[in-house]
Amino acid sequence: MSIMITGGAGYVGSHLAHALNEAGERVVVLDNLSTGFRASIPGNVPLIAGSIGDMALVTWAIAEYGIRTIFHCAAATVVPDSLSDPVFYYRNNTFASLALIEAAIAGGVEHFVFSSTAAVYGNTKFNPVREDALTLPTSPYGSSKLVTELMIEDIAKVHPIKYAALRYFNVAGADPALRTGQSGRKPTNLIKVAVQAALGISERVQIFGNDYDTPDGTCIRDYIHVSDLVRAHMNILDYLRGGGENITLNCGYGHGYSVLDVIAAVKSVSRTNFPIVYRERRAGDPAAVVADVSNLNRLLCWKPMYDDLEAIVAHTLAWERALLDRKSPA
Ligand SMILES: NC(=O)c1ccc[n+]([C@@H]2O[C@H](COP(=O)([O-])OP(=O)(O)OC[C@H]3O[C@@H](n4cnc5c(N)ncnc54)[C@H](O)[C@@H]3O)[C@@H](O)[C@H]2O)c1
Repeated sequence: MSIMITGGAGYVGSHLAHALNEAGERVVVLDNLSTGFRASIPGNVPLIAGSIGDMALVTWAIAEYGIRTIFHCAAATVVPDSLSDPVFYYRNNTFASLALIEAAIAGGVEHFVFSSTAAVYGNTKFNPVREDALTLPTSPYGSSKLVTELMIEDIAKVHPIKYAALRYFNVAGADPALRTGQSGRKPTNLIKVAVQAALGISERVQIFGNDYDTPDGTCIRDYIHVSDLVRAHMNILDYLRGGGENITLNCGYGHGYSVLDVIAAVKSVSRTNFPIVYRERRAGDPAAVVADVSNLNRLLCWKPMYDDLEAIVAHTLAWERALLDRKSPA
């Protein structure tokens, strides 16, 4: 019984590849390397370089490796890009996912875990937001993921495949052992952006809006350490293998930090100062999005280890320094 991780060369997928590999699972990665890196994958894990939308390739890989579980992490993930090129986002995230799911059901895949997102909620009025809240995405990115959730839900009603849709909140941090981290060239995650400013990789941090209805006027988000998120994936695997029902779960810590909280933490942990610049609000940015994690805690024996902003920042900083060292050999 092997496990396929789509997008396993990316940020979340590569952490998952290391964790599953370490747990003794047989893992294979399918990734088109559009934003992922071969070096992020454990050396002994095979990489199939190709697209999830290539049904012939996926069908072959499922049979060749005896895949029974798919963790579907592959996606294009940059919200502003999705606003300027919605066609690509629906093609890459939604249509290609349908091809993957079709190949999965034809190939007898039993468990399907989908990397969904808090972006499906849009401008939620309720915080913490529950999984049964209204889903009104404000970007093609969020819509492309929501439609994929709906497709899996409908398909699993008539085919013998069990699924979990995990709605990630703001994933941050890096593997504490520095085997992998967020290596992408276009960071959009605030913690990584601020860490790059702390290290002088960028000149300043832009803050989009300081007139929100929050205590300090800046947006609040629920930041979850990538290693804790991966632990939730390991737990969901046990849950599905143990006969658990189809499920949609928020993945966050259940409390949030403002943009200014994050910047203060980065300055304090890095012992640096860097300029911040206030900009207009960005279209579609909700004031606050915080996960209700009652279902995650009730259904999975999930024990987060890094629910601590300073630890998340410290691991992001260590990873960014490691990337710098790799780029400039002594
Ligand atoms: N990072 C976050 O904060 C966050 C939050 C919510 C949801 N998510 C979801 O988690 C998943 C992983 O995100 P990430 O942050 O690791 O992004 P990432 O860009 O680092 O990883 C995505 C990976 O998918 C690959 N990929 C993209 N399209 C592909 C295709 N058609 N076929 C094969 N491979 C393809 C890329 O090469 C990359 O390795 C995504 O589905 C994303 O929507 C991430």
